Amino acid sequence: DGDVYKYYADGQWKVSSSGKSVPIINPSTRITQFKVQACTQEEVNRVIESAKTAQKAWAKTPIWKRAELLHKAAAILKEHKTPIAECLVKEIAKPAKDALSEVVRSGDLVSYCAEEGVRILGEGKFLVSDSFPGNDRTKYCLTSKIPLGVVLAIPPFNYPVNLAVSKIGPALIAGNSLVLKPPTQGAVAALHMVHCFHLADFPKGLISCVTGKGSEIGDFLTMHPAVNCISFTGGDTGIAISKKAGMIPLQMELGGKDACIVLEDADLDLAAASIVKGGFSYSGQRCTAVKVVLVMESVADTLVKKVNDKVAKLTVGLPENDCDITPVVTESSANFIEGLVIDAKQKGATFCQEYKRDGNLIWPLLLDNVRPDMRIAWEEPFGPVVPVIRITSVEEGINHCNASNFGLQGCVFTRDINKAIMISDAMETGTVQINSAPARGPDHFPFQGLKDSGIGSQGITNSINMMTKIKSTVINLP
Ligand code: G3P
Repeated sequence: DGDVYKYYADGQWKVSSSGKSVPIINPSTRITQFKVQACTQEEVNRVIESAKTAQKAWAKTPIWKRAELLHKAAAILKEHKTPIAECLVKEIAKPAKDALSEVVRSGDLVSYCAEEGVRILGEGKFLVSDSFPGNDRTKYCLTSKIPLGVVLAIPPFNYPVNLAVSKIGPALIAGNSLVLKPPTQGAVAALHMVHCFHLADFPKGLISCVTGKGSEIGDFLTMHPAVNCISFTGGDTGIAISKKAGMIPLQMELGGKDACIVLEDADLDLAAASIVKGGFSYSGQRCTAVKVVLVMESVADTLVKKVNDKVAKLTVGLPENDCDITPVVTESSANFIEGLVIDAKQKGATFCQEYKRDGNLIWPLLLDNVRPDMRIAWEEPFGPVVPVIRITSVEEGINHCNASNFGLQGCVFTRDINKAIMISDAMETGTVQINSAPARGPDHFPFQGLKDSGIGSQGITNSINMMTKIKSTVINLP
């Protein structure tokens, strides 16, 4: 069937023997936009087998040559930014400009991986034995970083390209091969991105992309004995994967309930602008979105007014028109968001705007006077709805933040740097931003979640290190 996008294995574009496909529904039109192959377990086996073979030769390829190919792929990716961004618009309803910047950011990320890789993989350690009690200087230890083998990358729908290359770049520069299982929404953008690696002439089998239903190939991939590392970004599935995976390094970035604490002395204009950007960009569908505002009662009215003034200016509509608020990714996601809104309504939250929905499009909504008995106080909507909880002490804010099962990022707005640092230390999250909204980038910064928000740390340098293992050679003198 010519209408079904092929999957990528062994350096070739292939049709699955299943004869089946997976539809990708355009979130805006709610009709099938694209179809991808529904790969079989047998095909996954073959992909992993060729990844294993390709990796052996790649590990022996000089690091500078690996870097050269990555730079080439990065340049090709940037050249193809327009068609890839168009897929993001159709598949995940990302606003047109954001879709373009996702691709450009991805090219930059791949180049940075190449540069960082040649530096950090280019040096090891030299140790001598006589610093440990009872030893003479008769043993010299040399260490270097070796690849893990086959890395499985599973990115989420909200950054199908960027969160794929944030795994591909580090894996490849470190000498691993990579198998990509893209999210269904975003699979075609991911296949286009993989095509850029194909055009850059990477060895056959080193990078591959299998598409299909999670129910058919998900567990099969994550539990495959030949997979040596899993890098996953997404929701609860990550917890299930980590329970089933074998004894291999895992890098997991799961959900978040990023709190924004606003103190009395905060620059309220800055806080309001950051809440709107942090809470509503890409319609709140980011792990790092502001998902609860904890504001001191004395400044709450002023802050809420400032936020509402800005919410009123957000444009709502189609991603093609580059609107700020666009349809959320699926109907079930929209239904889930609506469930949280109805619960908050029943329990007495103040609606700053009227709740409005048309298909998957949900108008931006700020909910004031949210209380801890409401689901929205704890659950992540992954949609354009931001709850405000009024607090009477900083401790109350910190306690709310720390009572969450998530711990990705948080932010605090204050002009008092000492307080900011103390609050940052007290918040049980992987990162705290002072006077700005949570965000993962720049992409070489460490990025990690505590508790249910993840395992390990990402960011280019951390990912390269995580996708390697220390190997040592000891020279024993007579
Ligand atoms: O939801 C994905 C998460 O990694 C957010 O990234 O760049 O929007 O902060 P970013």
